[in-house]
Amino acid sequence: MNFGGTLRINKFACFTVIFILFVIIYWRSGSNSYPTDTSDFVNLKYLLKGAIHAAERGGLKVTDGKNHELNVKSKGKTQEGANDPVTDADYASHCAMYYSLKKAFPKVTVVSEEHSKGDPDCEKQEPMDVEAMMLSQKSIENLLDEHVMAKDVTIWIDPLDATQEYTEALYKYVTTMVCVAVKGVPVIGVIHYPFPPQTYWGWMTKQTSSNIAKVLYKEENKEKPRVVVSRSHPGRVEHIAKEAFGPKTTFDKAAGAGYKVMGVVNGTYDVYLHETAIKKWDLCAGDAIIKSVDGKMTTAKGDLIDYSADSPVKVTEGLLVTRFDHAYYLSKLPNILSATP
Ligand SMILES: *[C@@H]1O[C@H](CO)[C@@H](O)[C@H](O)[C@H]1NC(C)=O
Repeated sequence: MNFGGTLRINKFACFTVIFILFVIIYWRSGSNSYPTDTSDFVNLKYLLKGAIHAAERGGLKVTDGKNHELNVKSKGKTQEGANDPVTDADYASHCAMYYSLKKAFPKVTVVSEEHSKGDPDCEKQEPMDVEAMMLSQKSIENLLDEHVMAKDVTIWIDPLDATQEYTEALYKYVTTMVCVAVKGVPVIGVIHYPFPPQTYWGWMTKQTSSNIAKVLYKEENKEKPRVVVSRSHPGRVEHIAKEAFGPKTTFDKAAGAGYKVMGVVNGTYDVYLHETAIKKWDLCAGDAIIKSVDGKMTTAKGDLIDYSADSPVKVTEGLLVTRFDHAYYLSKLPNILSATP
């Protein structure tokens, strides 16, 4: 018998098997090794799921809060002299949203409108398991994973938009918002209405929640645009818009930046125009959603807004939001819409 020959064949077979095993292990680790805590990468799909869940957790605190003492305090006055209130519900929602996200994505910067007020229970939030999380929106599961560097991501949260209206029991304007910006660009936006619970989201260039309807473009809307402006500080904005867009322009006053942007997203309004200073946690989620339906949000000067963590929190050059014809409306706006420091 030729033992040498058999041995050679066995050796060859062994090497082949080991080689194939290595290839399989290498190939499998390529798809599995990223989404771990120690990784410098984060999966945008998990960020979307976490953002939806965090906004809905905040929403529960907001609905719960209305049954308790609101404990309204003032954070001072806005530049227009309107009261800037904060309630216990703002804080409770902040704690739920901020620490849920911070625990699930420890390497990502989270910027919130509120702070914890030194309450030791604030940090004690149930962890979110974003990998195992199954949301009611099944379409998310079919989206492809996309990994970005954690250091490039900034999450902007607004734990309770339209606090003034919340204290007046005008609940329809109230939202909680989460936005994921990558290198300053708003990529994922979530706007959650607690009254009654309804969540809208958009992931730029990928998908939107199925409750965001298609809107047909109507050229003639340019002749008689429907414009939504701020209820608390309309400023000179109605006058400016009428001069700019023509005498057939109509107006609605509404509260909450989230609510107003959604009105443009769903085609109720052609334009959301704002004149005075506004904070980025009010804008980022709406910016991502309007982008994901091919609309546009810019300053009244036409500049895109930078949502990097180290950028200024205030946008002071006005705001123009449209689903269609952005360049047209922008070209009509006069330069005077830029005054407030
Ligand atoms: C569209 O948005 C506006 C403002 O957010 C809201 O009042 C209205 O109910 C919405 N309409 C639909 C059909 O979703």
